[in-house]
Amino acid sequence: MLTIALSKGKMLDLTLDVFRRAGYALGSLSTESRRLVFPCPEIGMTFLIVRPTDVPTYVEYGAADIGIVGKDVLMEQDSDVYEPLDLGIGACRIAVAALKGQASRDRLSSKIRVATKYPKITERYFNQRGVSVEIVKLYGSIELAPLVGLADRIVDLVETGSTLKAHDLVEVECIAQSTARLVVNRASLKLKHAVVTELIKKLRGVTSGPTRSRTAAPRRSSRGARRTIRRART
Ligand code: PRP
Repeated sequence: MLTIALSKGKMLDLTLDVFRRAGYALGSLSTESRRLVFPCPEIGMTFLIVRPTDVPTYVEYGAADIGIVGKDVLMEQDSDVYEPLDLGIGACRIAVAALKGQASRDRLSSKIRVATKYPKITERYFNQRGVSVEIVKLYGSIELAPLVGLADRIVDLVETGSTLKAHDLVEVECIAQSTARLVVNRASLKLKHAVVTELIKKLRGVTSGPTRSRTAAPRRSSRGARRTIRRART
């Protein structure tokens, strides 16, 4: 039996569609329900519905063998999980945005305040550019921050760009592209190797992830983990 943690919210419907197209009958699993656990014994899987930011934790600690989560979350958390498949769904970008008319680069010469739910990605990005920033951690509705003077910039997900537009904000720079990834618990990859690889193979058959060709060899998302893999190979 495989336990699979799915991200609730926008990504859930897209994820269920991928599983169904891959031939998995998901029975009563629906985005309408308030239930958080869906056993599907006929396909040997139990699905957990969790917050996207919690998916890596469930997988890293082995509460779930597999998780489906956005690359944005993985980049922020640097979790110790394998990341063997890009599902290619939920495509969006992590971008810096500012109020129209305040997006010129020269303002970056002095310390700026950036509101975001991605403090690590934001810090890394501005540090690499030698720009000094004060980060204001928020948990949602990030676009509000520049409007009320809480921040000079935001770092947030942009999909269609309509939320930025609705708040008179413009995209200044793109930090990274993000799509949904399948992640696997380290021990599960060894102990449940046959079922895990079968699932990856079936899902890969119905996805068009841009990193599809690089997913043949499982890799782990954290830098420390990649070092461990190199050691294991030598
Ligand atoms: C996400 C993101 C943006 C919006 C972008 O928010 O944080 O606000 O979607 O989508 P768009 O470019 O298509 O307008 P979400 O709805 O997940 O809620 P949140 O603001 O509470 O994080």
